[in-house]
Amino acid sequence: MLDDCLVTEMPSPDRLDFRLNGQPVAVPCAAHRILLDLLREDLRLTGTKRGCDLGTCGCCTVLVDGRPTLSCLTLGRLVEGREVTTIEGISPPRGLSALQAAFVENGATQCGFCTPGFIVTATALLRANPRPSREEIERAISGNLCRCTGYTKIIEAIQAAADAGGP
Ligand code: FES
Ligand code: FES
Repeated sequence: MLDDCLVTEMPSPDRLDFRLNGQPVAVPCAAHRILLDLLREDLRLTGTKRGCDLGTCGCCTVLVDGRPTLSCLTLGRLVEGREVTTIEGISPPRGLSALQAAFVENGATQCGFCTPGFIVTATALLRANPRPSREEIERAISGNLCRCTGYTKIIEAIQAAADAGGP
């Protein structure tokens, strides 16, 4: 299940300091700036997708301190001091993660627009639960929508990555 947003006390400075994909980042961030806009427009990390902008599709999912989080519903200032991981930070420097490879090998991606959100969500799942049941996979991805695949291939890909040893 996705966390809709982070509920925490608003930090005061205009400058936002956090870790992004393992690197320290310091950027200006207005109080109303949404994390999705900060990532895609200010930091040019366009792997995180804007789907509904309403918290219903999961395309914008990133990890905040390891937890799947909808960046379209999260104020940028709320990640002050936290670790944010996007799809760019999940891919190894060369090649694909085991989950990404499993999505390709199992035909779990068609247009691909939803895929980063699924990969991010499934990465968190397999880190927390390396051997999930089908029901646990279905529950974990219940906040991610795909209009192409019918979900069976996605579930099979996640199971295949688990069988291969992890995300
Ligand atoms: Fe964030 Fe759809 S764009 S949930
Ligand atoms: Fe097209 Fe999921 S592969 S929306």
